[in-house]
Amino acid sequence: MFGVKSKICALMAVMLAISITSCGEKASLGVFEEDNGNLVVVGFSQPGAESAWRVALTDSVKENFTEERGYKLIYKDGRSKQDSQIKDIRTFIQQGVDYIIISPIVETGWDTVLSEAKDAGIPVIICDRNVVVENESLYTAFVGSDFTAEGEYAVSNLEKYLQNDEDGEINIVHIQGTIGSSAQLGRTKALEDAVKKHTNWNIVVQDCGEFTKAKGREIMAQAIEELGTETIDVVYCENDEEAYGAIQAMNEAGVEYGNKGGIKIVSFDAMNSALVLCMNGHISVEVECNPLQGPYIYNLISRLEKGNAVPKITYVHEECFTADNLEPEIIEKRRF
Ligand code: AHR
Repeated sequence: MFGVKSKICALMAVMLAISITSCGEKASLGVFEEDNGNLVVVGFSQPGAESAWRVALTDSVKENFTEERGYKLIYKDGRSKQDSQIKDIRTFIQQGVDYIIISPIVETGWDTVLSEAKDAGIPVIICDRNVVVENESLYTAFVGSDFTAEGEYAVSNLEKYLQNDEDGEINIVHIQGTIGSSAQLGRTKALEDAVKKHTNWNIVVQDCGEFTKAKGREIMAQAIEELGTETIDVVYCENDEEAYGAIQAMNEAGVEYGNKGGIKIVSFDAMNSALVLCMNGHISVEVECNPLQGPYIYNLISRLEKGNAVPKITYVHEECFTADNLEPEIIEKRRF
C-alpha cells in the first residue's frame, strides 16, 4: 500500500503537463506536481543543526526512509527558528506529502499548523522533543526522549558524587538548552527540584547555552571570571556541546575539573567523545539522549501504511553512564 496522496499528485502532475503542452507552452513539473511514482513521501522538519547529536538524528531518519524501502524523504532544516519550521511544514502540506515528521524546537505554538496538516489528512509524527497542544488528536504519535527521566538520572547520580559534602555549600553553574524545548524543560525541572530538596545546593548561575559549544564556553568563562575558581562545585550542562564549551573555558582558565577533584561536570547526550571523557573521569555523569530514532519512526509509519493502529507515545531506550559502568568496548560498539 503506497502513498495514495503521492499517486494523486503524480496524476495531477500528468494532467497539468498535458494541459500546459496542449496550450503550446513548455511542460514542467512544479513543486506541487512532482512525480514520486509509488514512493511514500515523508517530510522531515528539523529545528536546526546545533549539535552533533542532531546530525545523528537526521542521519538516522535518512537511513531509514530510503527509496529502496519505498520512501522519498524531504528534509528541511529550520535554522533554529520556529517560524521557519512552521513555513517548512506548510510547504510539506502544499506538496501533499503522505506523512510529516517534526522535531519541534519548542513545545508550544504548533496548534495552527498542526490543524492545517490534520485538515489536509496528513498524519504527523512528533519526534525527539514533544509539543503541548490543546487537542492531542492534532498529531498521530510521539517518538522521543523522556527528558524528565533523563534529568532525574542526572541528579540522582550527582547526589552520589556529592554525598560526602552534606554540610558544605554546593554551588552549581547551570547551562540550559534552548528555552521552552522539552529537552530544556525536563532537564531543568529535575535540577531545580533537587535544589529545593538539598538545602545546601545553590544555582549560582543559570543561563541559556542554546545547546551549543560556543555559548557553553561563553557562560562558563564568565562564571569563572565573576565567581572565581574556588566557588563553583558543579557545572550542569544540558547537552554535550555545552559541556565541551565549558571544558574549553575551564582549560583556558586553568581550572581543575573531574572526579579526582575540582568542578564536577554533568552532561546529556552521551556522544562517543563525551563518553570517553566520562570513562576517564573528566565528566562525572553522562545521561544518554538517544538520537537513533529513525527505526522507531519507520516502524510507526510502516504500521500506519498497513492501516494498523500505533501507540500515541513511544520513549526511546536511554541509559546513564559514569566512570563506574564504562569500558572502551561499550563506547566502541555505540553508533553516535
Ligand atoms: O532534543 C534533544 C537535544 O537537542 C539534545 O540533547 C541536544 O544535543 C540537541 O541539540
